Amino acid sequence: MRTFSRGNFAALLVLGAVIMVIYFCLYSADDTNYNFSRSQLTVVFNKNLSDTLIKFHKHEPFVPKCEADMSVADMKDFSSLPDAMKDFLYFRHCRTFPMLLDLPDKCGGDDGHKDVFLLLVIKSSPLNYDRREVLRKTWAKERLHNGVWIRRIFILGTSGSGYEKEKLNKLVREEQKDFNDILQWDFNDMFHNLTLKQMLFFGWMERNCPNARFLLNGDDDVFAHTDNMIEYLQNLPDNDGSKHLFTGYLFVDEKVVRWKGSKYFVPVEIQKSNTYPPYCGGGGYLLSGYTALTIYRMSQSIPIHPIDDAYMGMCLSKAGLSPSSHIGMKTLGLNIPTKEADNLEPCYLRDLLLVHRFLPADMYLMWKEVHNPHLKCNPRKKHR
Ligand SMILES: *[C@@H]1O[C@H](CO)[C@@H](O)[C@H](O)[C@H]1NC(C)=O
Repeated sequence: MRTFSRGNFAALLVLGAVIMVIYFCLYSADDTNYNFSRSQLTVVFNKNLSDTLIKFHKHEPFVPKCEADMSVADMKDFSSLPDAMKDFLYFRHCRTFPMLLDLPDKCGGDDGHKDVFLLLVIKSSPLNYDRREVLRKTWAKERLHNGVWIRRIFILGTSGSGYEKEKLNKLVREEQKDFNDILQWDFNDMFHNLTLKQMLFFGWMERNCPNARFLLNGDDDVFAHTDNMIEYLQNLPDNDGSKHLFTGYLFVDEKVVRWKGSKYFVPVEIQKSNTYPPYCGGGGYLLSGYTALTIYRMSQSIPIHPIDDAYMGMCLSKAGLSPSSHIGMKTLGLNIPTKEADNLEPCYLRDLLLVHRFLPADMYLMWKEVHNPHLKCNPRKKHR
């Protein structure tokens, strides 16, 4: 039998080395993906290879996976709670999730030259593509109004799981390429995770947009008269965002829902008190940059509550601040006297700041209508 020649042996060694290199590349690439999402790690290659730096984006702290806290199941009557509430409790302690989509330059980035007067922070979900589409063309259009800038951000988690989740994330990434207006984190975008979403946004704001003067925080199905909002905010005695403001549809002494069938059910184990501190309906409220950052600071020492707007009230109360009522913010569709004030009546909408629950098509038509110069209405009310 012929023995291997030296040449063959060397070739075999080289082949083995190549296979090992490939193996290690794949393995370590895999390892990288597991520990850091791609956007969290920036590798800077200098001329001199030994100076290669690996640095983290200052915007995105490293986020280890937050595991479920199984000990919550020891709580009294845990097994009789609705599934969504159980899910909430398992992950209640998780305050950070990896970021999937970021907007580091929304407020001017490092040169910070873009002065944002009103930042629209709109709670949406991957599935609500049609709503985002119409808001971009209507009240949430980024623009200069009365000499000040309006900027737009949608805040999203993820929907579905497995392939469905990946597909939706891919769609949202495409949307981001076109519009650059989405913040997305890797958590399940469910009702009871809205407080988490809000706090993740405030954390982002503290790092990336601390100088926004005012924010409109709301749902993606409200009609917000952003032109009127600008005028209202500009007419405030202090309109640089450095004073307390939190206004919307105010609830005072609102009862905690104890009926398990309700979406708003909260067990005594989560909240003993039977009433909430004053808060504004989550459909939409206006707040100053100062108040947003104050709420965020307070939230660090208050356990997450499943009802996001009520949680805002708790944070405000801890800071010794009160939310206020604005007559022009109708987040409860029910509250509108139907005859004289139809939702789809442009003269009614023209004088308001915000109305809840609009279908995308109605939103589009109404935005056109209230801007129709030939619209004939009774004299305008003032927004003070
Ligand atoms: C909130 O998000 C986490 C992370 O995706 C998830 O495990 C949990 O079930 C979600 N909570 C609810 C109430 O859906």
